[in-house]
Amino acid sequence: MVERIRAIENEALENITNAKSLSDIDDAQIRYLGKKGLLTELMRNLKILPEEERRNFGKALNETKIKIEGLIASRKAQFSAQLTQNKINSEVLDITLPGKFIKRGKLHPITQVMDEMIGIFIRMGFSIAEGPDIETEYYNFEALNIPKYHPSRDMWSTLWINNELLLRTHTSPVQIRVMEKQKPPLAIIAPGRVYRRDSDVTHSPVFHQLEGLLVDKKITFGDLKGTLSYFLRQVFGKEKKVRFRPSYFPFTEPSAEVDVECVLCNGAGCRLCKNTGWLEILGSGMVDPNVFKFVGYNSEKFSGYAFGMGIERIAMLKFGIDDIRLFFENDLRFLEQF
Ligand code: PHE
Repeated sequence: MVERIRAIENEALENITNAKSLSDIDDAQIRYLGKKGLLTELMRNLKILPEEERRNFGKALNETKIKIEGLIASRKAQFSAQLTQNKINSEVLDITLPGKFIKRGKLHPITQVMDEMIGIFIRMGFSIAEGPDIETEYYNFEALNIPKYHPSRDMWSTLWINNELLLRTHTSPVQIRVMEKQKPPLAIIAPGRVYRRDSDVTHSPVFHQLEGLLVDKKITFGDLKGTLSYFLRQVFGKEKKVRFRPSYFPFTEPSAEVDVECVLCNGAGCRLCKNTGWLEILGSGMVDPNVFKFVGYNSEKFSGYAFGMGIERIAMLKFGIDDIRLFFENDLRFLEQF
């Protein structure tokens, strides 16, 4: 009988020693120690053995059981240590791998240029004024000395909402709204969206303007010239020449358009400046006395100047962009460059 135990023990120890995996060990545990295991069956025989044999047999059986259990426990520990090690090896953290980057938002190029322009005027003492995008005919035209049926209305391809409401075609109506509420002296700029029935590589139905208005005693064309020359040299560079050219706007008299030396050819003449050497940047002039009448200002006592310019146009010239639509398409490959 004891030999039978020894035989099982040898087989078991060898099996467990040679086990190749945790599941081999589980199988061995069932084979020898399980409910129907080989040792368990021998245990059952204990009862039918005579008294004197039972002691020896029981002792041997117990010793074998303890040996097998011990070996199983230590082999199991080995395997789970091995598993942990394998896991550590395979899950090694490679700190040289590039991380996943979150795209950083930034300001739209139009906003950047607008902020720069606003900053220049703020430092000169101007404050910011605003008006609605949906305007009345009165503010957009009438009060700016542009009566109904006057041919100058053709300067603005207007988007009408109904008989009296429209999308403002320029930021000039803000001039009227400010003067209605404030008495001179005043110096304001009005940046904002404007709308026109226009669309090609240099015209967008929605674009941005920056308006300026200054009213005080004894304001002259010289003040206008000095302020705008300074502003344009801040934006385009101190070495750039600036030119004032007579023009016409119903709400200013006299009026002038202001040109800057071409940013591409520096005045030599090229495709961008249509061989003139100059780029048209803004409209301006001395506030027309008729406009002062509409807001109840005394034009004998006060004078002022006004100007308006397209922000997209300035941004295009600054960055060398030749299609205005790029600003509105929200293509990240374009926007990321600024
Ligand atoms: N409002 C004019 C335009 O849109 C620009 C301008 C503003 C001209 C103020 C003179 C004075 O073309």
